[in-house]
Amino acid sequence: MISDYDYFKAKIHKLTGFDLDSYKEQQIRRRLSTLMQSVGVNSFAEYYHFLEKNPQHLDAFFQRVTINVSEFFRNPERFQELSKIHLPALLKRNPQPRIWSAGTSTGEEAYTVAMILLELVPRYQGKILATDIDREALDFAAAGLYPPGRLRNLPPGYLEKYFLPEGDNYRIKDRVKALVTFRHHDLLQDPFPGTFDLILCRNVVIYFTEKAKERLYKRFYEALNPGGILFTGATEQIFNSRELGFTDLSPFFYQRRE
Ligand SMILES: C[S@@+](CC[C@H](N)C(=O)[O-])C[C@H]1O[C@@H](n2cnc3c(N)ncnc32)[C@H](O)[C@@H]1O
Repeated sequence: MISDYDYFKAKIHKLTGFDLDSYKEQQIRRRLSTLMQSVGVNSFAEYYHFLEKNPQHLDAFFQRVTINVSEFFRNPERFQELSKIHLPALLKRNPQPRIWSAGTSTGEEAYTVAMILLELVPRYQGKILATDIDREALDFAAAGLYPPGRLRNLPPGYLEKYFLPEGDNYRIKDRVKALVTFRHHDLLQDPFPGTFDLILCRNVVIYFTEKAKERLYKRFYEALNPGGILFTGATEQIFNSRELGFTDLSPFFYQRRE
């Protein structure tokens, strides 16, 4: 007999196209249980029928499943490595490297890379593609207005140089915004948007099953130009990186072999 959760997964997939199969079941169950309580349902089947009847609650469902916390210069020492070593090397090979921030959430990651590029090449005009499955997060990213807590890792001088105060918050300046294109994209289902010299996919796969992760890393490898680099999150080491064809530049930076 099909379980309550399997029924929910299949129905949600049919209703929204969203593939819960690739997300870790325990995490999803834990995350959804409070949301289910708050709307007064006791089973996944009931929750599905509630969502079907009240589609305005689908946003809350997606947000809970695809949690989107982010901040500028998340793990600052890694971004220092990116700005001091890997981006200068990529720029030497190609003055406008193709860059993709996959699972960008509310924009901090893509804008961080844009600011680093402007520091390295003040008149930089290339584009960074920034994608996420969560449309609300993308709207937030495009608005570019951040509370001070998300800015705590900014290197000295960046706040004054790249942001404008607005009430209690800070808005990213247009010259940084101009470098980033935000677009909706589901990493598990949509075709990849081209080939790249640098792909950032950080703190996204932690929610995926091992199988989904493996498939995704293979696809990232294929989407990198030879010599291109994949930059992962601080807890997302790829243990079979060599098998996939990568050279480990350092933990969390993987280069597609030439
Ligand atoms: C914790 S945030 C990471 C944000 C940023 N990369 C960082 O490290 O700060 C995870 C993001 O992954 C996105 N995400 C989850 N599943 C996804 C999928 N299948 N396709 C694209 N993005 C997804 C979520 O919407 C969320 O914005």
